[in-house]
Amino acid sequence: MEIDWPVLRSAAREAMGRAYCPYSGFPVGAAALVDDGRVISGCNVENASYGVGLCAECSLVSALYGRGMSGAPRLVAVAVVDRNGDPLMPCGRCRQLLWEHGGAGLLLETVRGILPMSQVLPDAFGPDDLITRT
Ligand code: THU
Repeated sequence: MEIDWPVLRSAAREAMGRAYCPYSGFPVGAAALVDDGRVISGCNVENASYGVGLCAECSLVSALYGRGMSGAPRLVAVAVVDRNGDPLMPCGRCRQLLWEHGGAGLLLETVRGILPMSQVLPDAFGPDDLITRT
């Protein structure tokens, strides 16, 4: 599948502009190409009960199962950006989230360039472990 990184980056920046982050003042946007051709996005959505806040990647994964989806959608490529529109490394929890829905081959735009998830979350725990270890 052809990955248009500038399109993903700009969708992530647009989503970043919709962030609800009154507590941290740290807006984040995420966008992804899905294997069904969709480009989806999400932003962080914070909460007065701080721990309840959602990362941009959470909201991205929710969109994966939203409008226009068919079958079992998979993430192909993801861009996450900070307030300046520069690549932002997903937090640990979000790396696990992305792994679940894209696996080892999912491509991520990182601060060191485009990398597969296998390098962003090495030796990951994932769905396969549940199958081989029960
Ligand atoms: N944040 C994300 O949205 N994604 C990440 O991967 C790192 C952190 C958000 C959570 C919180 O709303 C703000 O950035 C500051 O931590």
